[in-house]
Amino acid sequence: MAGMTHNLSSQCRACGAPIVAFMSFGRMPIANGFLKAEEISDEYFFELAPAFCDRCGMFQIMEQPRPEKMFHEQYAFFSSTSHYMQAHFAAFADVIMKEILAGRSDPFVVECGSNDGIMLRHFHDKSIRHLGIEPSANVADVARRLGVCTISAFFNRKLADDIVSEHGRADAILAANVMCHIPDLPGVAVGVQRLLKPDGIFVFEDPYLGDMIAKTSYDQIYDEHVFIFSVNSVMRAFADYGLELVDVAPQITHGGSMRYSLAPKGSRKVAPVVAEQLKKEQAQGLDKAETYARFKKNCESSRSRLMQALDNMRRDGKRVVGYGATSKSTTVTNYCGITPDHVEFISDTTPIKQGKLSPGAHIPVKPYSEFVRDYPDYALLFAWNHAAEIREKEQTFIAAGGRWIVYVPDVSIVA
Ligand code: TYD
Repeated sequence: MAGMTHNLSSQCRACGAPIVAFMSFGRMPIANGFLKAEEISDEYFFELAPAFCDRCGMFQIMEQPRPEKMFHEQYAFFSSTSHYMQAHFAAFADVIMKEILAGRSDPFVVECGSNDGIMLRHFHDKSIRHLGIEPSANVADVARRLGVCTISAFFNRKLADDIVSEHGRADAILAANVMCHIPDLPGVAVGVQRLLKPDGIFVFEDPYLGDMIAKTSYDQIYDEHVFIFSVNSVMRAFADYGLELVDVAPQITHGGSMRYSLAPKGSRKVAPVVAEQLKKEQAQGLDKAETYARFKKNCESSRSRLMQALDNMRRDGKRVVGYGATSKSTTVTNYCGITPDHVEFISDTTPIKQGKLSPGAHIPVKPYSEFVRDYPDYALLFAWNHAAEIREKEQTFIAAGGRWIVYVPDVSIVA
């Protein structure tokens, strides 16, 4: 089986230093690889093992499946399934228009990993020149139907050069929950450097290492997330390519993210918050091996407490349904050993996931109407990053006596 050779030492993808995995989550399938029963015998697995580079501070997974195995014409993640995320990206687009593009003549915006056009549609609405790059053809089609200019490709140096020849350089390059997907970080950095105007800006956001460590939200670690970035690791990774980290801004999305703004060196003032955030990371010990040894212990104890709760519920004949067939939940179900005996099905609003089985654990995914039709005793909140939106929407479930099982930051049962 691919990846089961315990490839636990390698080279840092950002700086080339030797790295060694500090733990393994074991055998993992593709996080968004929802499948039909007849596909089980062909299911792909790899070993999910994270490492931390002592030299440049980059947190990464040792082995990542080939991109074509993860991003293709049947990609299951549509960004616009959450109303909160829709509002978030409307606000993101607004900041770029007001703070970066205002006053520029005929500006051009490029987004890497533009998914269903959740952010670029706002530029389209304002007739701002834009280009989305989205390798997953099915989600890209949704964007195109909205009028968002989208090409289905992977971002790299060659593509950057092609875009420059066809459209010119970009005033802003944007990415959300995408940079952490691309293993060839040096290739991305060179591509950005070539595509960006000398007074342009590169703004991206991704789940933040500081939040993941603080909350033991180990489910951020899965095949697509080859990196979990910090301010320190991003600053260092791009500095060698003439891109300076000029601003950072914490975000509450995806359970705690960071927005990074980079610009050609010397072209903008560096905001004081960059140094402040670096200090916070040092105080949190993000640069220390002990932090990751403790994180490993916290993962193990989270797993045993969650399984104890689920085993007890099963013993007591309680019905448990998963809420949100998230990519993240693939790490949780497979690492913890959650089976269809613990969780009857997972409710999810995404049509392409419904009627399929969850990766590895093979828990059926059913439409939301099944959850509402016959409320379970407990709902396991796999989409914990959308807790505010979901708990507000599910007051009837609670009134009917239902309870949430949450596991981030701690395993607990809540109303
Ligand atoms: P999300 O947590 O955004 O991402 P990831 O896949 O990166 O871990 O995925 C949310 C999933 O939960 C998505 O499949 C849609 C589903 N969902 C619901 O079923 N109901 C809801 O109310 C919300 C907000 C999401």
